[in-house]
Amino acid sequence: MAQGYDFDVLVIGSGAAGLSLALLVADNAKVAVLSKNKISSGSTSWAQGGIAAVLDDRDSTQAHIEDTLKAGAGLCDYEAVKFVVEHGKEAINWLIANGADFTKDDEVDNEKVVEGDYHLTREGGHSFRRVIHSADATGKEVQISLEKQVRKHPNITLFEHHMAVDLVSNSKKNIKTQKCIGAYILDTKRGNVDVFRAKTTVLATGGASRAYLYTSNPDGSTGDGIAMAWRMGCRVANMEFNQFHPTCLYHPEARTFLLTEALRGEGAVLRLPNGKRFMDRFDERAELAPRDIVAHAIDHEMKRLGVDCLYLDITHKDDQFIKDHFPTIYKRCLKLGYDLTKDQIPIVPAAHYTCGGVMADLNARTDVKNLYAIGEVAHTGLHGANRMASNSLLECLVFAKAAANDILKIINKEKLTDEIKPWDESLVTDSDEEVVVSHNWNELRHFMWDYVGIVRSTRRLQRAARRIDMLAGEIREYYSTFRIKPDLLELRNLVTVADLIVHSALSRTESRGLHYTLDFPETDSEMDGRNTVLKPPRRPNSR
Ligand code: FAD
Ligand code: SIN
Repeated sequence: MAQGYDFDVLVIGSGAAGLSLALLVADNAKVAVLSKNKISSGSTSWAQGGIAAVLDDRDSTQAHIEDTLKAGAGLCDYEAVKFVVEHGKEAINWLIANGADFTKDDEVDNEKVVEGDYHLTREGGHSFRRVIHSADATGKEVQISLEKQVRKHPNITLFEHHMAVDLVSNSKKNIKTQKCIGAYILDTKRGNVDVFRAKTTVLATGGASRAYLYTSNPDGSTGDGIAMAWRMGCRVANMEFNQFHPTCLYHPEARTFLLTEALRGEGAVLRLPNGKRFMDRFDERAELAPRDIVAHAIDHEMKRLGVDCLYLDITHKDDQFIKDHFPTIYKRCLKLGYDLTKDQIPIVPAAHYTCGGVMADLNARTDVKNLYAIGEVAHTGLHGANRMASNSLLECLVFAKAAANDILKIINKEKLTDEIKPWDESLVTDSDEEVVVSHNWNELRHFMWDYVGIVRSTRRLQRAARRIDMLAGEIREYYSTFRIKPDLLELRNLVTVADLIVHSALSRTESRGLHYTLDFPETDSEMDGRNTVLKPPRRPNSR
């Protein structure tokens, strides 16, 4: 039996962004937090390197701002960058107050780097050590501490294995009077579609890197929030800037395992199969250049030499130093037959982060009233054409707080008056062709990797666009004929997101940051500051 629920705040997503938001409003609001899988199944739990913030007196907000702008290759929104950086320290202190345990200097004291309590590491693009971390498993620490607080808060109800299908609005016609009044939610264990009504709804659904064959991301990064917001009528920006992380382990059994950039921050170097370093040929910052530059250089060298991988090497550092700083990676590599203290590790780039997303302002408001977007799902202007390492978790925390403040201002003025009609399954049957979904999933991720990857061309993008059109037609038919299941919903969302990525890429007639195309290999200075903003056609948003 389908259920109906009423909440003040419906939070779709239970990573750093969603859990922080829930905690920040819960003393004054009745909150639902949804996760389509287990609560800890998002990217947050997998984050390794850390969180960037100005925590050392010798560092400065101005330096963090400048580094972010530089990495963002002329497309960051200055106000958004300033806003996030200025709230960095406060966000870290809030996490610590909520139980997050970060690595102290004396825990890795064989190389004492800064005075003071916490050890700060370094990553690409940062001109200063400013990444606070919990060894090499920062995300797990953040997720666990926030989860603990959320589980004991009496005003928060957690719904695991509940997947948002679509947002619901009061009016489908006029963007000016339209507001979000809740969502249809598939209870993935029981198969019902429940109705959640809410005064405010927050998208905290993470990114879309699963659109690619090789990715560092967990299975659930399928861009659901971006696709749902798009169907509801929100603008989406800069989807061409999908970030590829330079160093994922190249191994048949663990292709997606990340080797944190902090390894390079602590001295690891990249090598060709003949043992030679090469990054200084591409950028004076060598291994610590921003990610777009390093990933592109690796891709270039792999293609030039016709090899399947390159190598990351930290063997010149002291064994104990490596084990203290990178215990998780050390153990994982050892299990797979590589000793980080003795072996060079084979690496390849993989899809890692969605810089674009649902357009949100400094209060995290989207184009639709009472709908917010925070974390990786959002485009706030912080990352521009290339996100700087460890700015993402920071963005989750700062915008969770901004959204919480805004929600608390409006929540008492809003009423749950609009009814939402129950989900209609009268015209659909159970599918007898599940293979269509898995086949289309594979096809999409393969051609996105081949045609819309690190190096693009107009012809490859057009080829991808034609395939997306075909898949979209099949998915539409499948969706309106058969009862919905999570993998169908994810595929439907991924096809929408892939379409947004390809159309954004086609419309950018230059190379910049993470978007590199053979047809327009130069950066066009006339396009500085020009974002790719896509506006959805007005369409009904539910069955
Ligand atoms: P996520 O943590 O991805 O959570 C998304 C949530 O949404 C999940 O709970 C999921 O179940 C839920 N969800 C999605 N769709 C639906 C739906 N339809 N219905 C219901 N629920 C849904 N960033 C840094 O700043 N520092 C790092 O060191 C770092 N390391 C990283 C390492 C790895 C391997 C990866 C993959 C990413 C890393 N990042 C790092 C990026 C960062 O982890 C993510 O950008 C960030 O955690 C995103 O948080 P989020 O709360 O927006 O989403
Ligand atoms: C990493 O640890 O290399 C990932 C950091 C990030 O994505 O910000």
